[in-house]
Amino acid sequence: MRDSRGKVSRDAEQWRLIFDSMIDAVIIVSSDLIITRLNKAAARLFKDNPKNLVGKSCFHLIYGREKPCEVCPHKRVSESGKHETWDEYIPHLGKTMLIDVSSIIDKNGASSNFVHVLRDITEIKSIKFKQKKSQLQLIQSFKGIAQAMGKMVEQRDPYTAGHSEGVSRLSVAIGQQMGMDEDTIEGLRVCGLLHDVGKISVPAEILTKPTRLTDLEHGIVKLHSITGYEILKNINFPWPVATVTLQHHERLDGSGYPDGLKAEQIIMESRVLSVADVVDAMTTYRPYRPALGLGAAIDEIKKGRRVIYDHEVVDACLEVIEKIDKRIMIVDDEIPILNMLKDFFTATRYEVLAFDSPKAALKSFAETPFPIVLTDLNMPEMHGLELIRQMKKITSDIQFIVLTGYGEKEEAVEALRLGVNDFIDKPVELKAIKDAVEKASFQRLKEEKLTPLSQRI
Ligand SMILES: [Fe+2]
Repeated sequence: MRDSRGKVSRDAEQWRLIFDSMIDAVIIVSSDLIITRLNKAAARLFKDNPKNLVGKSCFHLIYGREKPCEVCPHKRVSESGKHETWDEYIPHLGKTMLIDVSSIIDKNGASSNFVHVLRDITEIKSIKFKQKKSQLQLIQSFKGIAQAMGKMVEQRDPYTAGHSEGVSRLSVAIGQQMGMDEDTIEGLRVCGLLHDVGKISVPAEILTKPTRLTDLEHGIVKLHSITGYEILKNINFPWPVATVTLQHHERLDGSGYPDGLKAEQIIMESRVLSVADVVDAMTTYRPYRPALGLGAAIDEIKKGRRVIYDHEVVDACLEVIEKIDKRIMIVDDEIPILNMLKDFFTATRYEVLAFDSPKAALKSFAETPFPIVLTDLNMPEMHGLELIRQMKKITSDIQFIVLTGYGEKEEAVEALRLGVNDFIDKPVELKAIKDAVEKASFQRLKEEKLTPLSQRI
C-alpha cells in the first residue's frame, strides 16, 4: 500500500516537473472558465505567483476582460471534440500569441476541462513581417525597374509605346482568369514589361520602318528575344523573366524562334506572354499597317489554339476579352445616323444607350456612367466637347470617341486635349467605328488596375 502510494506520488512529481519545464504556457480551465492549474511558464507570462492565478477566469487573465469572449472556443471544442489553434495579437499582454485549446476527456468520455497552450510568437511574427516587407519592397523595385526599362525601349519606337504595359496587363488578366497564384501573376506582370527589352539593339529605322521589313531586317528584329535574354539573365529575379523573354516568340508546334522549342519545352509563363503579345500587337497600330482589330486578334488565337498557342491560355484570354465591359452611349442629333449606330452596336452584342439630345445623355450619364461614349460634335443643344467636359467632371474613367465632320479639325485638337481616344470622320464608316470602339473597350482592360476583374464587370 505504502509502495503504491509512493509510486503515485513519484509519478505525480515527475508529471509536475515535466509540466513546469515546458516552454509554452499551459493552463487548465474548467467548464465555467476558471483556471484550476497552470505551469511555471504560464505564471511567468502573467507575471504572478501560480497560487494567485488559480481561481481567476481565463478571459480575465488572458484578455483582461470582465466578461467571457464573444467567440470563446470552449463550446465548439467540447462539441466537436477537435482542438482549435489560432494566433492573435493580445493588447492586454502586449504580445502575439499562438493559442491552442483542446478538451480534456475523462474516463467516461466526457469533457469538462480544457487545456490552453499559449506560445509567445511576437518575435517570430515581427521577423516574418520584416521579411515580408522587405520582400515586397524588393518586388516593388523590380517592377519599377522593369517599367523604366520597358519605357526606355519604347522611347525609340513610339509606335509600340504602351505595348509592354498592354502585354503586361493582359498577361496578368489571363493569369488571374487561369487561377494562377499571386506570385506567378506578379512574375507575369514583370515579364510583360520586359519581354521586348532586347529591341534596344534593333536600329530605330527598322523599328519604325513604314513598309514591310526585308528578310534581313526581319532577322535583325528576331534577334531581340536573345538580346533580351542576355540583358536579363544575370538579374536574380524571383521569376523566370529571362527565360520568358527568350521564349515569348516560341510556338507549341516548334515553328517559333529563336530555338524552335516545342510544347513542353515552353514554360507556362511564356505561353501566356505569347498570346498576350499577339493580341496586343494586333489591336495596335503599327507603322507598316493599321490596327487589325480585336476581331482579327480573336480569330488569330482561335486559329492557333492547340497548334501554336496553349489552349488553356487562349480560352482564358477569350474569357478575359468576353468580360470586357460592352456598354456604349451614343449621342448624335442626326436621328438616321443615331439609329444606324444603335442597330449596328446592338447587333454586335453591345448594350447601347442612344440619345439625340446631349442634355438627356448627360442626365442619364450622371445616374449611370457608361465606359464608352461615342458623340457627335456639332449639336445645337450642346456642343460635343462641352458634353465631354461635363461627363469628365462626373468620372474620368471613360473612353470618348468623337464623330468629326469636315472643317472641325480645330475642334479635334481641343478634343485631343480633353483626352478623347479616337476620331471618326463623317460620313461614318461602320468598320472604322467598330474598330475604334473595340480598341477603346480593350484599352480599358489594359488601363484597368486589374483588381478583381469580376468586380469590374
Ligand atoms: Fe517580341
